[in-house]
Amino acid sequence: MTPTIKIYEDKHELAKAFSAELKKIINVEHKVYIALSGGSTPKAIFDYIAENHREDIDWENVHFYWGDERCVGPQDSESNYKMTVDHLFSNINIPPENIHRIKGENDPAEEAERYSKEMYQHMITKDGVPIFDLLILGMGDDGHTASIFPHEINLWTSANTTEVATHPESGQKRITLTGKVINAARKVAFLVTGSSKAEKVDEILNKKNGYKAYPAAHVNPVSGTLTWCLDEDSGHLS
Ligand code: 6PG
Repeated sequence: MTPTIKIYEDKHELAKAFSAELKKIINVEHKVYIALSGGSTPKAIFDYIAENHREDIDWENVHFYWGDERCVGPQDSESNYKMTVDHLFSNINIPPENIHRIKGENDPAEEAERYSKEMYQHMITKDGVPIFDLLILGMGDDGHTASIFPHEINLWTSANTTEVATHPESGQKRITLTGKVINAARKVAFLVTGSSKAEKVDEILNKKNGYKAYPAAHVNPVSGTLTWCLDEDSGHLS
């Protein structure tokens, strides 16, 4: 599937447009399952939603999961869950049971297993894989996505739905979804902004030599759609 590429003037314009898209995806007749990512771009979207869409999105209709989480407690400044609480959940009325956080305070291997079971318990599956209606991803400067880093690219093709990953510099343990779940989603949206991402975005979208070394290059939904939401700084495509 050829990805759709959307380039916005800046992070604010991306947040505005993506928030309107989220409203369309969530305000439907059936329950919706969304996997969030950490990082700075989602933070801007959460802030925009908190200011402009508190009341016009049916929050009871959406179940939030995460594509990855750092193995830290829910109050830790490194926690993707904490960032989401601070910038989104604290500003909207969403039932607590609709929030399915990865418990970073638990033993990593046990938590990866528990989180996988939670997805299977609540979500519909296709060919034995939990199906997200929308899966939001960021991309690191090194081409990682979720918490699958280039030095552990083998995790992408794991037979499991979740794995324990290790940050290449800090050694921090993380829980991550694998390619099996990411590529099974109905819609996958990369939210990538900033000039530090421009080179990797260009290499991946233009399939330039060595691009397959980047986990983000392997996001290719089996039957779903893939959209790259970029800003002018990250979207300098040659
Ligand atoms: C995480 C994120 C990670 C993030 C990228 C991009 O837990 O760190 O899920 O995959 O999306 O590192 O982060 P920025 O948007 O902040 O550059």
